[in-house]
Amino acid sequence: MSFNHENYAAVRREFEQKRSIAQSRADERRAALYLQIDGLAEIDRSLEATAAKIMGAAFGGKAGLDERIAAVRAETEQLRKKREKLLAAAGYPADYTDPVYECKICRDSGFANGRMCACLRRALALRGYKTSGIGRLIGVQTFENFSLDRYAYDKTVQARMRENLQILRDYAQNFTTSSPSLLLIGGTGLGKTHLSSAIAKEVIDRGYDVLYDTAGHLFSAFEDEKFRGEKRGTDKYFSTEFLILDDLGTEMNSPFVTSCLYDLVNSRLLSGLPMLISTNLSPEELAARYGKRIFSRLLSSSFRSLVFVGKDARLD
Ligand SMILES: Nc1ncnc2c1ncn2[C@@H]1O[C@H](COP(=O)(O)OP(=O)(O)OP(=O)(O)O)[C@@H](O)[C@H]1O
Ligand SMILES: [Mg+2]
Ligand SMILES: [Zn+2]
Repeated sequence: MSFNHENYAAVRREFEQKRSIAQSRADERRAALYLQIDGLAEIDRSLEATAAKIMGAAFGGKAGLDERIAAVRAETEQLRKKREKLLAAAGYPADYTDPVYECKICRDSGFANGRMCACLRRALALRGYKTSGIGRLIGVQTFENFSLDRYAYDKTVQARMRENLQILRDYAQNFTTSSPSLLLIGGTGLGKTHLSSAIAKEVIDRGYDVLYDTAGHLFSAFEDEKFRGEKRGTDKYFSTEFLILDDLGTEMNSPFVTSCLYDLVNSRLLSGLPMLISTNLSPEELAARYGKRIFSRLLSSSFRSLVFVGKDARLD
């Protein structure tokens, strides 16, 4: 698992900002209190010097060390109590000048007890949804709301879709970069994009870098780079840990598209990075449109193909 590097850097920056805002707000509250409460600044200066005082006590040699340290501690405790009383008298809680962090566990650092905090994981996932290209669907087209009741009209259809759902759920839950690729074949409105969104969410939640694009959009990005010299960042299609290429076959066909597709599929197979391809084309149509070299790869053991059946859900 390796988070998208740009996302990781951006989220870490956000965390640093949150942390420093919390700290400067606390500083502001403290500065305001110093003006209001006599003697508070002095107490704080003494408290800040505690660590130095303990060090000083330690330097005084072994004899009486424990007593000296205990004395510093007692003095510190007294100062704390005094501070608390002063604050209470002025109507403030004891922790009024502490920074208020969004996450109490990691104090907005993103790490606690040597591990990544759940809040940082969550922030990375949310950003991952956004940059995946399928963020709009991720919240609404999920495994949970993929209904098998829709297929109640035909037990064979329902059984097939139940199996597809189970396979894709397991796939998402067990995803690693050594997972096989997937080929979802089936007519329009049968839930291919819906389940792609469900898989994307789960895989992002597990910390992987996911990218979704439609074939039309992906190939035109390649064309813009190749023929118009535009920067479209097509490298990411090769390097992302999980690529979802939706609607294969809806793009304008050309030798350029075929060679791009070959390059993409072959490179990802060689570097062992899985992808999910969805298409309305039948295996015969895939072979006819893209040729043997691509077809044999899509139907090889590196790809698991699932056939989607049923009635167009958009017409329900
Ligand atoms: N079993 C299902 N349960 C709930 N909603 C479904 C189901 N199947 C499809 N849908 C919904 O129907 C609509 C069409 O499904 P989807 O977009 O996934 O089809 P598709 O197979 O990708 O079609 P196309 O090939 O045209 O892209 C979506 O809004 C989707 O959420
Ligand atoms: Mg679709
Ligand atoms: Zn946290």
